[in-house]
Amino acid sequence: MTFGFETLAIHAGQEPEPRTGAVVPPIFQTSTYAQHAVGEPRLGYDYARSTNPSRDALQQCLAALEGGRTGLTFASGLAAEDTLLRTVCRPGDHAVMPDDAYGGTYRLFSRVAQPWGLDWSAARISDIDAVRAAARPGRTKVIWVETPTNPLLGIADLAALAAFAHDIGALLVVDNTFASPYLQQPLALGADVVVHSTTKYLGGHSDVVGGALVTSDTNLAEQLAYHQNAMGAINGPFDAWLTLRGIKTLAVRMERHCDNAERVVEYLVAHPRVAQVLYPGLPDHPGHEVAAKQMRRFGGMISFRAAGGEEHAVAICNRARLFVLAESLGGVESLIEHPGRMTHASAAGSPLEVPADLVRLSVGIESAADLIADLDQALGDA
Ligand SMILES: Cc1ncc(COP(=O)(O)O)c(C=O)c1O
Repeated sequence: MTFGFETLAIHAGQEPEPRTGAVVPPIFQTSTYAQHAVGEPRLGYDYARSTNPSRDALQQCLAALEGGRTGLTFASGLAAEDTLLRTVCRPGDHAVMPDDAYGGTYRLFSRVAQPWGLDWSAARISDIDAVRAAARPGRTKVIWVETPTNPLLGIADLAALAAFAHDIGALLVVDNTFASPYLQQPLALGADVVVHSTTKYLGGHSDVVGGALVTSDTNLAEQLAYHQNAMGAINGPFDAWLTLRGIKTLAVRMERHCDNAERVVEYLVAHPRVAQVLYPGLPDHPGHEVAAKQMRRFGGMISFRAAGGEEHAVAICNRARLFVLAESLGGVESLIEHPGRMTHASAAGSPLEVPADLVRLSVGIESAADLIADLDQALGDA
């Protein structure tokens, strides 16, 4: 029997606890486990870096939601990314990454993986010819994409990129943080690995940091699980439990994030002090058709360019009240930020530098009218 997404979010990996029947899988706050005899751990649990039932529950749930076979969770999105890169790449290999990506991912590639020996090129991932030109067949081991991208909301055609990656013997890695598995399932479109910052929509309440990898490739899953234990960048049991608690309501939250984002987009498009709205749900967005094909809806993230330039963009962020001025995204509360000076400051002077007049919104699930009223006062007079 196959279950729907909402059912999996609430039940996958979350059988009532066998000893007491506790409906919610408990927090196994332990570092080690008593063994039956030397070399005979109970049910395979020997040490909590290697395995923990609270983490198992989250990992199984995420695998089910992404339609994958194996899920692995980590202390943060970046810990997941680092574990993946050092599992599948060796010094001398090459990777293609988006020319518009989360600033921390750029920093990981350029300041950590590159000195370690990984060569990389940035490409516009909405343009398959640009990705083709950036690849080094034989050396390129990973084509890394975000879709929608952070912060410019660019869209990558996942099926086309998967076909290209496999032609050159590379893996297609998709950071699915902005969409969440409710809106988009990259493995079904041919991706090899899905990456998440579970800090965002999956956790959903801005109260826990975490990361995840999901794959259906059994060999790769084994290598990743080996590195998860060997490198040790795991999430703790309480963080796993909190993330799983958030996931239960992912579907209903995402519907409301999308409803509110559509209302905010409609308002911003008509505003004279907004030069451009970047949202894949807009029919004139260059990735609209591809997004409509591979996403259920268009998500809760919006970026826009302020008509009054950088100073205006910064003033809007400073004037917002209900939209909290903060980094991160995907929580129930709305956030606003200036990517150039905040989340993407580490990309300044690089091919990933973002426009200075850009404002990014993570639209929460408050009353849409209140969100629009706040933006109205923050944008200022025409
Ligand atoms: C798209 C994307 N990927 C990865 C990350 C990194 O995740 P974390 O902050 O959990 O390490 C972020 C963080 O903002 C992100 O926005």
